[in-house]
Amino acid sequence: MIIGRCGDYESVSIFAADLVGRAISKKPHGVFGFATGSTPEGLYKLLVARYQHGEISFDQMTTINLDEYVGLPPGHEQSYAAFMQQHLFGQVNIRPESIHFPEAGPDPSEFDEFIRNAGGIDLQILGIGANGHIGFNEPGSSFHSRTRVVSLAESTIRDNARFFDSPDDVPREAVTMGIRTIMNARKIVLLASGAGKADAVARCLRGPQTEEVPGSCLQAHPNVTVILDHAAASKLNDKN
Ligand code: F6R
Repeated sequence: MIIGRCGDYESVSIFAADLVGRAISKKPHGVFGFATGSTPEGLYKLLVARYQHGEISFDQMTTINLDEYVGLPPGHEQSYAAFMQQHLFGQVNIRPESIHFPEAGPDPSEFDEFIRNAGGIDLQILGIGANGHIGFNEPGSSFHSRTRVVSLAESTIRDNARFFDSPDDVPREAVTMGIRTIMNARKIVLLASGAGKADAVARCLRGPQTEEVPGSCLQAHPNVTVILDHAAASKLNDKN
C-alpha cells in the first residue's frame, strides 16, 4: 500500500488527478470506477479542466459507479447519477451508454457479472465514511459481499443529511458494489480529507482487518494508493 500524504484538500485533489489522469492516458479504453460524495469533488473538477485543455479524453472508457440510493425518483438532484452528471460526466466527452450504476433490480449482483464481462475495473476511486464504510458497505458487511441492496447505518444517514432538506428525506437504503466487487479492482485509490476521517483512516490502515471496519479489507489488496491530507492522516501515528 502506498500512502500519499498531502498538506490539504487541494493537494489531495491534485495528487489524485495526476494519478487518475495518468491512468486514463495510459488506458483510455479502460474501466474506471467512480465514487460520489464531497471528497472526490476537487478531483473531478481537475479532471474536467484536464479534459478542457485536451490532456485527457473520456470517449473510450467504461465507467462504473460504486453505489446509488434506493427510492429516489429518477433524476432526483441528490441521486448519485445526478451528482456524477453535475461534477464530471456532464462536462466531459463521455458516451452516455458507457455510464453504469448498480441497480436495485431483482438480482443486483448481475452488476458484478457485468463488470467481469467488461474486463474488470482497472482503477476504482474510493472515499471513506467516518464509520469506515467503503461504497455503502456499512460495518458488518461481509468481505465476500457482492453488489446488493443495503440499509444505511444511522451514522451514515446523519452524515449525509447535509445534502437533503431534512434527515427524514435521506433514503434508508442504497444499492452498493460489495466488498468483494471492490477488492476485484486491479487498482484502488482511496481519498480522505479532514479530521472527521482520521479515526476511520487509522482503523482501516492500521487496525485489525475486520468486517466491523469495512475499509480494513484494503490492507489485503495488492495495489492500493491512499491519498490523505494532514488532518485525515493525523491518527496514523507513524511516518510511513
Ligand atoms: C460514495 C461512497 C461513500 C463515500 C463516503 C465518504 O459513492 O461510496 O462511501 O465515499 O461516504 O463521503 P464524503 O466524501 O462525502 O465524506
